[in-house]
Amino acid sequence: MAGLIPKSFIHDLLERADIVEIVDSRVPLKKAGRNHQACCPFHNEKTPSFTVSQDKQFYHCFGCGEHGNAIDFLMEFDGLNFPDAVEELAGIMGVEVPREQPENPQLAQKKQQQMQDDSELMSKTARFFQHQLKHHENSNRVIDYLKGRGLSGETVKRFQIGYAPDAWDGLLSTFGSSAPQRQQLLELKLINRNEKGRHYDFFRDRVMFPIHDRRGRVVGFGGRIIDGDGPKYLNSPETRLFHKGSELYGYWHMQQAVRKPEQVCIVEGYMDVVALSEAGIHYAVASLGTATTSEQLQRLFRTSGRIVCCYDGDRAGRDAAWRALENALPLLRDGLDMAFLFLPEGEDPDSVVREHGAEAFERELKKATPFTEYFFEHLQADIDVSSDAGRSQLLNIAKPLIEKVASEYYRDTLMQRLAEKLRRETSQLERQFEKPQRQSRPKESVKMTPLRKAIALLLQYPQLAQSVPVREELRELQVSGIDLLIALHKQCAERQMTTAQVLEGWRDTEYYQPLQKLALWQHQLDEDNVEQEFNDIFIYLIDQYFEQRANALLKKEQEGALTRVERQEYQTLIQYLSKAR
Ligand code: UTP
Ligand code: MN
Repeated sequence: MAGLIPKSFIHDLLERADIVEIVDSRVPLKKAGRNHQACCPFHNEKTPSFTVSQDKQFYHCFGCGEHGNAIDFLMEFDGLNFPDAVEELAGIMGVEVPREQPENPQLAQKKQQQMQDDSELMSKTARFFQHQLKHHENSNRVIDYLKGRGLSGETVKRFQIGYAPDAWDGLLSTFGSSAPQRQQLLELKLINRNEKGRHYDFFRDRVMFPIHDRRGRVVGFGGRIIDGDGPKYLNSPETRLFHKGSELYGYWHMQQAVRKPEQVCIVEGYMDVVALSEAGIHYAVASLGTATTSEQLQRLFRTSGRIVCCYDGDRAGRDAAWRALENALPLLRDGLDMAFLFLPEGEDPDSVVREHGAEAFERELKKATPFTEYFFEHLQADIDVSSDAGRSQLLNIAKPLIEKVASEYYRDTLMQRLAEKLRRETSQLERQFEKPQRQSRPKESVKMTPLRKAIALLLQYPQLAQSVPVREELRELQVSGIDLLIALHKQCAERQMTTAQVLEGWRDTEYYQPLQKLALWQHQLDEDNVEQEFNDIFIYLIDQYFEQRANALLKKEQEGALTRVERQEYQTLIQYLSKAR
């Protein structure tokens, strides 16, 4: 685990980077007035509503509401997490990312060391299995098996497929000579321990498929039996390195071949991924276990605009497909696409591609059932919509699912279909549904108080901070958000900043979301009047503060306890306030 990235570095990076260039290199922009425009890369549209502001170093789509600075853009567009997006931006700018000493350097270093050691042991293990495939006495038998399954040496090598020897101590005797080493092997679930305390290899006499994480590090294994008894596949259990719900078999290999594939195919098995790749289809991944998790789907939707779930037509395959669909409901945005392909009994992508070839398989993918169709196909499987009872049952199960849908397009489509099936008007149905939660336009969802206006203007024109001194005494004003305004004011007064830089300072706080919304508020002022408006709000806030103070003094007076100084203050305040009105 590398140390934290210093905030000041991120600030400077945003200072030097130009969001227009960054976006333009990925989504070509056209100049339009003060801003730059394009059709939004985050939803499907024909007229551009995606704008990038050079002054603010900020992008915003009026259609889908996506917004942020250069780092957010890279996170969204390239599908990166925060540190990786910073790395990417630094790479573009040609600078190294420095790392801060963490709070507990000893612990952090220990953890980092452990992670390195674990990672090294996993890749040594993978190499050991690869070596065994060539040199073990069973080598010919295993290689024949792989050849029999249609795999070339090149594909076997690319997927680092290996062989776990037919022995209790193959790995154990190679990497487990000391007690700490055996402990590590045990913790990574590469060996087991029986009740008598004896250790033995976890994988024995199996074809080994290493599972790589998104950076290409080996984090686990799947092992297929060649012949004999026992479960067909044995998989690494969860370990500190391996989390099944987050990894996808074949994802790293896919990224090596195509970074942004037009579609990604989710299949069930290791062999399906490998056989498709052998046939030249490099965009298949397998989820490890049955259902595809929301985390896996998110990653795939960042990688590609279309996901095709390709499963067995049997019960288990259909269940897995439906669960993937349920997990995808909140993730499907306009412009993204999901489809389902069920293969006939006894077939899987491996067998289809081997029997009929890659083109035949790709033709099937094109014909996959669209998401909206499968949605009703599945729900209607056991419901008879020709009766009133059946129709009300359909409404009851479809409603909560449709309410989860984030995309306007899909929501409308599903709603229309549902209305047809229920023989009702869409508008009549809509009234019964909760309003969509996400993708609401920011300007509609925030009630603008003077304080929020001040914050919004300050975010959009950080240089305004210079036009009014920071008023610490306002902190006593009993208005929620006043501390935030003062903190923001101080931040902007310290040095010149763009909107993007100001916001970056709040990323990991509870205020980040609300501040981003305020940064997008449309003030409807002439540029020339912005400063006046900002000053007026401060005058208003100061008046509020004086009034609050005067009321407090008055209350104290009524309780009979004003000092001489306080009485004077009260007089002055009353005089000021009567003039102000
Ligand atoms: P399949 O039975 O469809 O296997 O299981 P497959 O991939 O077609 O295997 P081959 O073609 O016979 O070699 C699909 C996936 O389910 C998991 C594995 O991840 C497998 O790839 N599985 C299956 C297990 O984990 N354990 C098993 O015993 C069987
Ligand atoms: Mn198979």
